[in-house]
Amino acid sequence: MRSDSPKRIRRYPLFYIEKGNNMSQRINVLYQKKPCYDIVITRDFNGLTEELELLQLTGKKIAIITDTQVGPIYSQEVKELLLPLSEQVSIFEMPAGEANKTLDTVKSIYTFLIQEGFGRKDLLIALGGGVVGDVTGYAAATYMRGIDFIQMPTTLLSQNDSSIGGKTGVDFDGYKNMVGAFKMPRLVYMNLNVLTTLDDRQYFSGFAEVMKHGLIKDSAFYTWLIENMYEICERDLDILEEMIFRSCNIKKTVVEKDPTEQGDRALLNFGHTIGHAIEKYMNFELTHGECISLGAVAAAFISWKRNLISMEDYYEVRDMYVPFYLPISIDHIEPKEILQLTKSDKKAEGKKIKFILLKRIGKAVIDDTVTDAEILDAINEIYFNEEEDACE
Ligand code: GLY
Repeated sequence: MRSDSPKRIRRYPLFYIEKGNNMSQRINVLYQKKPCYDIVITRDFNGLTEELELLQLTGKKIAIITDTQVGPIYSQEVKELLLPLSEQVSIFEMPAGEANKTLDTVKSIYTFLIQEGFGRKDLLIALGGGVVGDVTGYAAATYMRGIDFIQMPTTLLSQNDSSIGGKTGVDFDGYKNMVGAFKMPRLVYMNLNVLTTLDDRQYFSGFAEVMKHGLIKDSAFYTWLIENMYEICERDLDILEEMIFRSCNIKKTVVEKDPTEQGDRALLNFGHTIGHAIEKYMNFELTHGECISLGAVAAAFISWKRNLISMEDYYEVRDMYVPFYLPISIDHIEPKEILQLTKSDKKAEGKKIKFILLKRIGKAVIDDTVTDAEILDAINEIYFNEEEDACE
């Protein structure tokens, strides 16, 4: 990698990871204090058959649930690998995109499974990004009262975040993730090589959730991300492997402690209150990560205004999204409407907004006292008003 990369001063010791066999990393995730499933981080699909044998998931019918974007690229390769150890391998392609994260898509998966004769002992594989993982997981949680499933995430966002922790579900009536279930996968198998062909926007969108893990739980990781920004942007696989391994470990720690979000798992929603509102306001024209970086800047701003973090930390956090091609301001919005949208989820849940603030870099807290005025101030902070700026 570039030896001329400007490096920030290292504030923390480097974290070394122990290599597993065959160039892969393995993280075991506990559920209710018992080993539940492994996250396998590797560089091709070849190890999948061995994993299925280890889990005694052979001799079953397998449905690869994928979408119209990922399916044409990878589903045949995965199918060929699985054929020798399965009774039957079928592929179901859903239309790609958040707009299809619906009960209608789940219904079409049920219909497909019934037509193909799937029973409770068979297996689903989610091959794709977060939407495919969430929809397949929900179909697996509900088809015949529950069927095994495996996550094979193919985007940075799903590899670091959505494939881990058992949240599954769909959007409903304009509400994100309103219908769902907790359903743990039998395995999360990720091939990092797929990231090299991901389009830039999707790749950097996923990075917003990686950054979030550092900000809320691990300042050394946050610093490491900044130090390695050039390699991350260039998708150096060794660096990506370390990044994903560390990021998945942070997520593992959080979901093990609070699998069903009774408490601290909500910390993972840092940046999501305002982020989700912008996502909705923009009619999903921005990527999830783009909205989350805007929401994170707004949450860091409130943290600064409350003297939880310093002004320097706020500006550093804000500016650190820029090299990763993530937005820190947005134009053509109506801040008051965004504020209203932050409440629509609250209205649906019948609860106060749980806002996630930074107490310092690497430590987040849940706070339900953030006022409308503070939220509006924060939205105005990220609002790039061309007309006002021109007058100054
Ligand atoms: N992505 C947030 C969570 O898994 O809780």
